[in-house]
Amino acid sequence: MAEVVIVDDEEAAGALVADAIVALIRRKPDAVLGLATGSTPLASYRALASRIADERIDVRGVRGFALDEYVGLPAGHPESYRSVITREVVEPLGLTPELVRVPNGDPASIRTAGADYEASLLAAGGVDLQILGIGRTGHIGFNEPGSSLASLTRVKTLTEHTREDNARFFNSPDDVPMHCITQGIGTILRARHLVLLAFGEAKARAVAAAVEGPVSASQPGSAIQLHPHTTVIVDDAAASGLANLDYYRHAWAHKPDWQRI
Ligand code: PGA
Repeated sequence: MAEVVIVDDEEAAGALVADAIVALIRRKPDAVLGLATGSTPLASYRALASRIADERIDVRGVRGFALDEYVGLPAGHPESYRSVITREVVEPLGLTPELVRVPNGDPASIRTAGADYEASLLAAGGVDLQILGIGRTGHIGFNEPGSSLASLTRVKTLTEHTREDNARFFNSPDDVPMHCITQGIGTILRARHLVLLAFGEAKARAVAAAVEGPVSASQPGSAIQLHPHTTVIVDDAAASGLANLDYYRHAWAHKPDWQRI
């Protein structure tokens, strides 16, 4: 079962995530981080940037792999995930840009981009800690409902729900690309530690389905139940659909001191 941690707000979640990543980098200076985009992980990136600056942690060897990218946005488009990862992660954390990969959404090479990305992940030795958000549709990465639980990095068609949710980042809803390239669920499950974050009432149903629902391709988030080390960090609103809330709180309150998330 995933460990479920209920926190007051995104800042409290960010402190936990930063703690786990700092410990990882101290243990493994060339750690491989799995990077999510969207609004959800931003407080965690801010917390991590502060820790790195305050404690003068050397992150020059840290490597990163983004979960996904839109297909067909022009190079340098501010909402391409390459741009978002550069702006929100690489620059504030001081990572080495060449060590941070994002799937290649260029239509010219899209047919081989998935296999290329999988090869890079394997060559890097896999992801040590994967940050995940979850969409209202239940997607992780851009694996929309129906995605094979064994899927690898490939092109997917976004649902209209997801395009509407992401329209806030674009001038018009029609500007949101129709296709993306995303790590598959099988790819995500290879990471050594999954940290899934969700905040707000709009995510409550997807969180409940992911943590407590049946494992099903119809609820891609439920794949976390197949992973031996998943931490789900949610606020009260996102946790509100969970049946076993009391137990999760009890387990967290009695967590052995020596155990991290
Ligand atoms: P959000 O998106 O963080 O912007 O809510 C999460 C997701 O779609 O995975």
